[in-house]
Amino acid sequence: MNIDWARLRAAAADAATRAYAPYSRLRVGAAGLAADGRVVTGCNVENASYGLTLCAECGLVSALHATAPPGPSGRTGSSGRTGSSGSTVGAPVLLAVAVVAGDGNPLMPCGRCRQLLLEAGGPALLVDAADGPVALSVLLPAAFGGPDVASRRDN
Ligand code: THU
Repeated sequence: MNIDWARLRAAAADAATRAYAPYSRLRVGAAGLAADGRVVTGCNVENASYGLTLCAECGLVSALHATAPPGPSGRTGSSGRTGSSGSTVGAPVLLAVAVVAGDGNPLMPCGRCRQLLLEAGGPALLVDAADGPVALSVLLPAAFGGPDVASRRDN
């Protein structure tokens, strides 16, 4: 699928205008292209109890699931099994993500959000960066994922 990075970045910048960030005053917007063609977005939402802050990528991943159409890439038919990519079989998949600050320029996802994005897009997920798209596997090498849970837990 062709990835329209300008469109993704614009969608992320639009989402950033809706951020609720009265404490840090850093607006963040995220936009992702799903394998089913949807563009889903999120913005950061802060809280007086600072640690409860939701990053923009959290909202994006929630939207990815919450607005998934029924069908093979939606929730209907999901077995809940974990595939080799770390994604859950039947769950919607992200192909590309742009995260920007309020100035419209790329902001690299925090460590927690890299882990969150891994489960939604796998290591091949492309992340917008100032010098061009970069694979999530570069941003989060030697990652822990769903397959580790499946293979290392007690039986
Ligand atoms: N933030 C995000 O939304 N995503 C990131 O990947 C980095 C940080 C937000 C959280 C908080 O509201 C503000 O940026 C300052 O850390």
